[in-house]
Amino acid sequence: MAKHKFSTHHGMVDILPDEVRKWQYLENLIHQEAEKFNFEEIRTPIMEQTELIVRGLGQLTDIVSKEIFSFSRGDDNYVLRPELTAPVVRAFVENHLDQRGGSQKLYYIGPMFRAERPQKGRQRQFHQFGVEVLGSADPVADAEVIAFMVHIYKKLGIANTTLKLNSIGDPESREAYKKALKEYLKPNFEKLSDISQTRFEKNPLRILDSKEEEDQPFIETAPVITDFLSEESKVHYTQVKEYLDDLGISYVEDPYLVRGMDYYTQTAFELISPDLGSQDALAGGGRYDLLVEEIGGKPTPAVGFAAGMERLFIACEELDIKLGSEKSVDIYIVTLGDAARKWGLKQLPAIREKGLSATMDYMGRSMKAQMKDANRENARYTIIVGENELNEGKFTLRNMKESEENQLTMDEILNKLSAWLNVRRSIFYKHPISRSSDRK
Ligand code: HAM
Repeated sequence: MAKHKFSTHHGMVDILPDEVRKWQYLENLIHQEAEKFNFEEIRTPIMEQTELIVRGLGQLTDIVSKEIFSFSRGDDNYVLRPELTAPVVRAFVENHLDQRGGSQKLYYIGPMFRAERPQKGRQRQFHQFGVEVLGSADPVADAEVIAFMVHIYKKLGIANTTLKLNSIGDPESREAYKKALKEYLKPNFEKLSDISQTRFEKNPLRILDSKEEEDQPFIETAPVITDFLSEESKVHYTQVKEYLDDLGISYVEDPYLVRGMDYYTQTAFELISPDLGSQDALAGGGRYDLLVEEIGGKPTPAVGFAAGMERLFIACEELDIKLGSEKSVDIYIVTLGDAARKWGLKQLPAIREKGLSATMDYMGRSMKAQMKDANRENARYTIIVGENELNEGKFTLRNMKESEENQLTMDEILNKLSAWLNVRRSIFYKHPISRSSDRK
């Protein structure tokens, strides 16, 4: 019988060891920078009740109507989380996080699931990092959330981005705008795409987000929401822009920017990159002042964003930015004979204790094969030990790059390696990111 070949689900990918270092690098950077902004990490389950996502994001959104992975167990219906804003709000309400006092400044990193048609930059399991600030209606919170988002890309050297900004106002502003938009589109209803026709009654704002060619002429001359903002919404929007100006963050106002979830109010934004092709949104977010109440909490204004990590890596590739170091190990102990192997195994803890990475052969290979393996592992140093070395108490420390060898006691080796580690650390912190062109 032919062996069955197993594979990942369409649009879901393994992150293999050769790639994982760039993920770890980015995750470390996010943790480190989030701490500087005083954001605290939150981790929520991968599964959520279907009703939370339907209520939170909106029944008619693309995500809820066609992209959720759902299943049931007994009478309970669940989905794999398609995003984290609604789950974070659920956690906030369920755990009474408001009682901690002040505004809750939360961030997260993790996998999300949407049954979209996979293509470059669009997967069915993808990863986001993001921020949700709950409890503040102040435009300073909007500005700080945007500042953190922009900061991460800047830190990585992804400079070629555009921040698109809009305000979709409060519900009253939006109702007035929806009415005007429908009146404007009505005479040409028959000429709109099928999808826009279905959105016309219940969700006309989403028509502005249409990619269908036949809709474009109507979108281009449509009324703009910013003309329908209430006084309060206008003030909020103006202040957000002023704060961004103060922070030196440039933006382009896009009055047709509407986001894919129904929970948004006031500020809406997206960070786009020309290096991404058709899936050009690196990140997106906005205010959602009514969601906490919608999910059963007390009225709590909130603002946040989420960024696609796979898309960030695509932008890095296009810009020739390499994240994380190459695979390597500091020390490879090459042993000849059983006594040397035993000795080698016993040295590993002391070397690791110094803060160095260390390994040895697990396969009983010849010395030649072990040296070859040390090269493959990109070992910085090898410690070579056989019967003679054991008798003399001096071992060969070989610098693999310089091809330089010294006969040293184990204490001397540990001291030399510690000094080398300190130098390496100081270089790493000065140049944590490299472009492959710099390495040549
Ligand atoms: P979103 O715009 O749906 O917003 O997703 C944010 C980012 O996730 C996108 O800009 C994109 O980079 C990435 N992304 C989305 N779908 C995929 C996919 N199928 N494959 C790869 N990357 C993808 C949200 O998720 C909101 N929760 C953001 C937010 C937070 N709003 C307020 N707080």
